[in-house]
Amino acid sequence: MRSREADGGAVPPEDGLASRQWWHTSIIDMRPGVIRYHGYAIQDLIGNIGFAQMAWLMLRGELPSARQGRLLEAALMAAVDHGPQAPSIAIARMAATCGVGLNNAMASAVNVLGDVHGGAGEQAVELYQDVAARVDAGASQEAAVRAGLDAFIELHGKFVPGFGHRFHPLDPRAPRLLQLVDEAAAAGAVPGRYAAIARGIEAELEARKGKPIPMNIDGATAVIYAELGFPAPLARGLFCLSRSVGILAHAWEQSRQGGRNKGPIPRQYIPLYDGPPPREVPER
Ligand SMILES: CC(C)(COP(=O)(O)OP(=O)(O)OC[C@H]1O[C@@H](n2cnc3c(N)ncnc32)[C@H](O)[C@@H]1OP(=O)(O)O)[C@@H](O)C(=O)NCCC(=O)NCCS
Repeated sequence: MRSREADGGAVPPEDGLASRQWWHTSIIDMRPGVIRYHGYAIQDLIGNIGFAQMAWLMLRGELPSARQGRLLEAALMAAVDHGPQAPSIAIARMAATCGVGLNNAMASAVNVLGDVHGGAGEQAVELYQDVAARVDAGASQEAAVRAGLDAFIELHGKFVPGFGHRFHPLDPRAPRLLQLVDEAAAAGAVPGRYAAIARGIEAELEARKGKPIPMNIDGATAVIYAELGFPAPLARGLFCLSRSVGILAHAWEQSRQGGRNKGPIPRQYIPLYDGPPPREVPER
C-alpha cells in the first residue's frame, strides 16, 4: 500500500485509496451489508448491549465490565434534568417557542454547557487528576488537595469546579453516586482514589470557607468518569449526552404546550434599565 507521504497526497482517484484514507476510523467498519463497531457486529450488539455500554464501546474501543457499565449508566441517568431553573433547560424551552425544530432547541441548549453549568466536570476531572499526580509524587493526600486547590484557584479563580450549588445545600445526587463508587471500589471494579480525593477537596473547601460547599452533580459524575478512566474532556461530552435527554423532554413538552416566543421571565417583569436617562439625539 502506498503511503500518503510517498504520493505527496496525489493518489490517483481511480484506486479509491485517497478517499478511504481521508476519513479513516477505528470506530466503525461500514460497508454494504456490514456494520461493525470496533469489530462487533451490530446485530450481535442489538438486544445485548445497553445505551451506556454502547457509548463506552464507541469511546473506548472495548466493552465495559457489567459493573463499569452500571456505574457509567448511573452517571448518565443522574444528570438528565434539573428543571427550567437550569439555563440549559430554560434555553431548550425558549427555543421551542421560537418556531424551530427539536434539533435546533437541543443544539441551543447544549451550547451553554460550559465551565460554570454542566461542563464543570471536565475541569473537575483535571483537578482530581492533578491531586492524584501530587500524591503519586509523594505528597500526603491532604497536602496534595491543598496544593492542587491552590494551583487551580491561582489559575482559574476562586470557584472550584464540581462544588457548590445555587439551590441545594446538599445535592441529593452526589452522595448516592459516591455510594455507588464506594460499592464498585469495594468490589475491585474501580480504584476508589478519586472518590477519596473529591471528598478531601470537599472537606478542605468547607474548612477554608467556614461553611459547606458541597459536591454537586458535575463533581460527583466527574468522580465516576475519573474512576472509570475517561479523559477529562469526555466528562463534558458525556454530560452533554446525559443532559440532552432532559433537554429533549423539555423542548418536546414546551412545543406541545404551545407557548410562542417566550422570554426568560413573564412579560410583566421588565428588566431594570440602568443606562443614561432619556436624551435628545444631537444635531449632526
Ligand atoms: C454553581 C455556582 C455557580 C453556584 O454559585 P452560587 O450559589 O451563586 O454561589 P455564590 O456565588 O452565591 O457564592 C456563595 C459563596 O460560596 C462560595 N462558593 C460557591 N461555590 C464555590 C466553589 N465552587 N468553590 C469555592 N467557593 C464557592 C463563594 O465563593 C461564595 O463565598 P463568598 O461569599 O465568601 O464569596 C458555583 O457554586 C460554582 O461556580 N461552582 C463551580 C462550577 C460548577 O461546579 N458548576 C456546576 C453547578 S451544578
